[in-house]
Amino acid sequence: MALRGLILDAYGTLFDIHSIARLAEQLFPESGTQISMLWRQKQIEYSQLISLSDPSPGGSRHYRSFRELTEASLRYSLQRLNLHFTDGQVQTLMGGYDQLDAYPECMGALEHIKSLGLPTAILSNGSPDMLKAAVTSSGLAPLLDHVISVDQVQQFKTHPACYDMGPATLQLKPQEILFVSSNAWDILGATWYGFTTCWVNRQGVPFETIGRQPHHTCTTLSALAEILHLNA
Ligand code: LAC
Repeated sequence: MALRGLILDAYGTLFDIHSIARLAEQLFPESGTQISMLWRQKQIEYSQLISLSDPSPGGSRHYRSFRELTEASLRYSLQRLNLHFTDGQVQTLMGGYDQLDAYPECMGALEHIKSLGLPTAILSNGSPDMLKAAVTSSGLAPLLDHVISVDQVQQFKTHPACYDMGPATLQLKPQEILFVSSNAWDILGATWYGFTTCWVNRQGVPFETIGRQPHHTCTTLSALAEILHLNA
């Protein structure tokens, strides 16, 4: 089936969350990488725990916004690493999420895709205010037709209610949409859901060892226009 639209994950896919590791290193010398890795792992773990513990399609009763989960997982990580920290340091690191850079190729890749006449969207766990800040600070706003937050359904990916918002928004079938993420778990969920998928393996790591392989794999978003063009 022809590809007629593009949906992208946000954090790690469009927005470079490694800039937060640099900020963490400045605040907590020698611990920046450990903080950012544990922080990200806990952030995703909390989101999945909330959806798994109450998967009602109308919303999890345990739901808390991704901004709250991001702060809670940061506080956990600093405690777990036995670091002494202040509320001010937590707020400085949280502020990093509102000023993320896009990866260098994103602007050109999205411009190329827009020139093919295809609709573009973000579908992210991020709360609407976080996504608005990141889309604005990175300069990508004019190249995105829709910014879809799971906050609408109060569940987190990989809950199908989250992925359902993609086809509903673009008015396309899941297979007609190229779903792109650098998170292997997100790609696995999206492939199970029925999207055509492209995994952006920025780090050169193995794919998950359960489930189906992605339909496409690339190393940067620069490959997307050709995949969309060849499958138009
Ligand atoms: C997102 C995170 C999980 O943007 O990368 O949904």
